Amino acid sequence: MNLRVLPDYEALSAAAADAVAAKLREKPEATFLIPTGTTPLGMYRRLVAMHRDGLSFLQAAFFNLDEYLGLDPEHPASYHVYMRENFYGLIDADPTRVHVPDGAAADPDAECERYEAMIRKCGGVDLCVLGIGRNGHIGFNEPGASFDSRTRVVRLAETTRLVNASDFAGDRAPEKAITVGMRTIFESREVLMLASGANKARTVEAAVEGGITDRVPASMLKQHENTTFLVDRDAATTV
Ligand code: PGA
Repeated sequence: MNLRVLPDYEALSAAAADAVAAKLREKPEATFLIPTGTTPLGMYRRLVAMHRDGLSFLQAAFFNLDEYLGLDPEHPASYHVYMRENFYGLIDADPTRVHVPDGAAADPDAECERYEAMIRKCGGVDLCVLGIGRNGHIGFNEPGASFDSRTRVVRLAETTRLVNASDFAGDRAPEKAITVGMRTIFESREVLMLASGANKARTVEAAVEGGITDRVPASMLKQHENTTFLVDRDAATTV
């Protein structure tokens, strides 16, 4: 695992966007597994700007890490809408190669299997970009998630439901979600984990300096041979 500390959020976002663009130039048909949340917004903004300057995403395949269970793809808090508004709708991605788990699927378990099979069909993941939750989750693999897990329905941690509550009318995010599994993330040829801000410092410290444990799912990435933690200075104060 490499740790790269950038001076601030803008530099972090630029480094992440450059990594995606470099992969795309090396392999235009690459498969990407990518996150939602506040952290990657700067990266997406830069990638959209690069697209305006000529970078094409047309041949690439994109998979999102997760989606809330029970949310219609048109729900304003869905990751379908987030991705359309912040990335997919602003670039030349091929709609047939853009994938977000369907949280409204009639048979969620079948949807998970379909999603996993689709990733395989696209040749596996070339570059996985991840955020990290304050509890160390990656995707919605919450503490306790098995190293061997695949795309599946999970129950969200209460802390996650509270942190993400502001996107919803009630006081909590939905109870469940579909997430790509730990094993699926691990099979990515390259992983880039992004963390920004002082409120992630203790989590980053636990992931980087603590033992490898399913209590901090991101710590398991230390076993992945091609993983970089891209962290801004505020999130790196204790490492
Ligand atoms: P954030 O979410 O980027 O909004 O902090 C990260 C995550 O929960 O994975």
